[in-house]
Amino acid sequence: MSRSAHPAGPRHADVLPEGHYSAPPADLNVLDRKVWAQTVTRGADGVVSVGGIDVNRLAEEFGTPAYILDEADFRARARAWRTAFGTDADVFYAGKAFLSRAVVRWLNEEGLNLDVCSGGELATALSAGMPADRIAFHGNNKSVAEITRAVEAGVGRIVLDSFQEIVRVAHVAQSLGKRQKVQIRITVGVEAHTHEFIATAHEDQKFGIPLAGGQAAEAVRRALQLDGLELIGIHSHIGSQIFDMSGFEVAAHRVVGLLKAIRDEHGVELPEIDLGGGLGIAYTSDDDPREPHEIAKALTEIVGRECEAARLRTPRISVEPGRAVVGPTAFTLYEVGTVKPLEGLRTYVSVDGGMSDNIRTALYDAEYSVALVSRTSDAAPMLVRVVGKHCESGDIVVKDAFLPADLAPGDLIAQPATGAYCRSMASNYNHVLRPPVIAVKDGEARVIVRRETEDDLLRLDVG
Ligand code: LLP
Repeated sequence: MSRSAHPAGPRHADVLPEGHYSAPPADLNVLDRKVWAQTVTRGADGVVSVGGIDVNRLAEEFGTPAYILDEADFRARARAWRTAFGTDADVFYAGKAFLSRAVVRWLNEEGLNLDVCSGGELATALSAGMPADRIAFHGNNKSVAEITRAVEAGVGRIVLDSFQEIVRVAHVAQSLGKRQKVQIRITVGVEAHTHEFIATAHEDQKFGIPLAGGQAAEAVRRALQLDGLELIGIHSHIGSQIFDMSGFEVAAHRVVGLLKAIRDEHGVELPEIDLGGGLGIAYTSDDDPREPHEIAKALTEIVGRECEAARLRTPRISVEPGRAVVGPTAFTLYEVGTVKPLEGLRTYVSVDGGMSDNIRTALYDAEYSVALVSRTSDAAPMLVRVVGKHCESGDIVVKDAFLPADLAPGDLIAQPATGAYCRSMASNYNHVLRPPVIAVKDGEARVIVRRETEDDLLRLDVG
């Protein structure tokens, strides 16, 4: 994730401050295609538009801040994943990245399945008509109420995450007179090259059952004995925002190793494996993500090869991309409120949102880019830190970026690649109201998640 401080480039002072930034682009008005949603363009009048609607109009109609989502891009990415994996594999969109009823309908129409990880996500999926058998239910501590709801609804699979849960799900299923399809999530002991908080396959963490020490094999033994469960496969998710396929390679090798051990011990060939999500996207010009067809090819080859070596029938593969489907499809539109140059340091640009609509910069030190979108400018680049309106100095939206030196209050700036883990991780810190999500397509914009109101806040406050 890290880039080194660049010694060159325009500056306010003689010494460029510490930071993670490249040299400013030659022309700040040019949008880097890599980080913007597909239909985003800058018009002849200098105003950026998406889905045929310019941002000045969007701001006027819907206010700022707002997440602006390119529906055509979302559908195209969902379709690309579906097509890449063909009919021999299943793609489960990870709803935690961003879920709303419109999104569920798009997924349904584009032939994707859905991974949910809470009762709330399950309720959203079911209420928007996702067939239950195309839903996978995840989580390391599902409540009995959540499990009951999922089993009753008939979800396609529950991914078991602990020894307690094996018993809990079996008990619920049995008491409902059902046999629930399940997978067991294992930790394969892979160190994914990503932020510590979003790496999930090393052993010292809360998810899954370790392969090490025979624990995963023991979990399989127990699951196979319980009448309420139909064990259909093994699950592994190694982490998030990963570019390097070698982690998946090791994971597939170890998962197939377990399938082989299960075959040898129980005479059972489990029909499915799930390799999770985690594929990285471009947040800045320095990131080079892989296309779904490359990922599909790599994963199917790895699994095929491993199974051939183990003399196993190749199981049906599933994957769970979240960020890689929705992340690039949206940007956050902010209005600039204040511009504060600090001599010898950088210029602080305050916007009307902040860590309540994007916690990723504060939480993971995530890098983003930003652009002036309501007009063009020929002014020189200035080094900025885009900050929010919260009472906290860690309230950083974009840590280091360049914007034109004539930036002024009232300008609209946009932060690309905020489709994943921004609205879904948004908070009400400082009682700031969560922004709406506006879907734009073919010249039409519609609210798919409305802006929160003070009434919404006060409705919960019943003291
Ligand atoms: N499958 C499972 C079991 C997961 O736990 C996750 C993400 C995914 C799939 C989807 O991963 P993706 O393709 O979106 O990377 N809040 C963090 C990311 C946490 C991811 C949690 N699990 C962030 O903002 O980077």
